[in-house]
Amino acid sequence: MRADKATNLDDFKQAARRYLPRMIFDYIEGAAEDELGLSRNRAAFQSIELVPRYLRDVSSVDQSASLLGRTHALPVGIAPTGMAGITRRDADLLLAEAAHRAGTPFILSGASNSSIEKIAQIAPSAWYQIYVPKREDIRRDQIRRIGDAGLETLVFTVDIPIYSKRERDIRSGWVRPYKPALRSRIEALRHPLWLLNFFRNGIPTLENWLPYCPPGSGPMDVTGFFAEQAFAVQTWDLLRDMRDQFKGKLVLKGILSAEDAAMAVEAGVDGIIVSNHGGRQFDKAPAALTVLPEVCDAVAGRIPVMIDSGITRGSDVVAALCLGASFAFVGRATLYAVASHGQAGVERVLEILKQEIYLAMSSIGCTKLEQLDRSYLR
Ligand SMILES: Cc1cc2nc3c(=O)[nH]c(=O)nc-3n(C[C@H](O)[C@H](O)[C@H](O)COP(=O)(O)O)c2cc1C
Repeated sequence: MRADKATNLDDFKQAARRYLPRMIFDYIEGAAEDELGLSRNRAAFQSIELVPRYLRDVSSVDQSASLLGRTHALPVGIAPTGMAGITRRDADLLLAEAAHRAGTPFILSGASNSSIEKIAQIAPSAWYQIYVPKREDIRRDQIRRIGDAGLETLVFTVDIPIYSKRERDIRSGWVRPYKPALRSRIEALRHPLWLLNFFRNGIPTLENWLPYCPPGSGPMDVTGFFAEQAFAVQTWDLLRDMRDQFKGKLVLKGILSAEDAAMAVEAGVDGIIVSNHGGRQFDKAPAALTVLPEVCDAVAGRIPVMIDSGITRGSDVVAALCLGASFAFVGRATLYAVASHGQAGVERVLEILKQEIYLAMSSIGCTKLEQLDRSYLR
């Protein structure tokens, strides 16, 4: 399949399933424990009905979305995904470039394989997501580097106070010290294109952590250092400290409670992303979409509320905006696309989402994102 022949996001998931060894596909697709959070995310979007409204002029639908002082070409961007480079060489750069060309933000993961500095050069509109290290000097240095590189937005992911239990990864051996099970190694032989890429380029490094490791450290040393450093004890005091340090826009990712959302506003953050990390952290956590309305009520328009977790259609984005979100992000969808088709795949995912958002908005008779509200929901 050529990237431009994909009709929906699932086409890329199936292409990635063929291209990637099962162990890497499972790393992306998998979630915590019984993976109920994963199905809950999808079920929440599937249960939403939007009311079609006709006899309205929908000859021009405007998808431009204002967010944190910038205007984006569509209301959906790319969520941070760690170790993207294991799917394809320079995957972070390809994701960043595709998002930049489409006019939407790309969030570089704190466990990325490309550095803040490289990403800022090709996508100055990118955001950086920090995994707060135990060592304060490293935290301060990472925050300094974001500013020096010219990136405006820092995302603090709060839903990882601990490493979660992802059982697919435990079984396949995709956990430290990364010794793939024999079964996983044999299965990988059925994916020669990925293997070729892997043997040519080797294991990708967590580039943002390299400067803090002893000279000559290899990718596994850096991963070990990251595992030692991540994560600091995360508290509201730490957040306030980071708020003082970072002069740009500070966004909290992983908020799922109205009370936490209100406290975040009090602490001076500029935005929050309602997210259950795609079901990957805590299996009993609610779907992000389910708690979105109460979080929006608590925030009462003081800062933008964004969402991710479970979006696979443009109409999902429209539903989230009707429930009060200002913006949405996708994680797995663009990662599958970069794995199977590189930058062209990611560009196609964003194009498909844009077209589906247009279709949904036209069907409910709404031509501007700001006009979307709960009255469109059944
Ligand atoms: C393979 C993978 C790696 C991820 N790595 C990170 C990460 O480094 N930092 C982070 O904040 N979220 C991470 N996430 C979570 C995503 O940012 C996002 O919350 C989630 O994927 C959204 O759900 P979706 O995949 O259903 O779109 C990761 C998700 C996946 C699938």
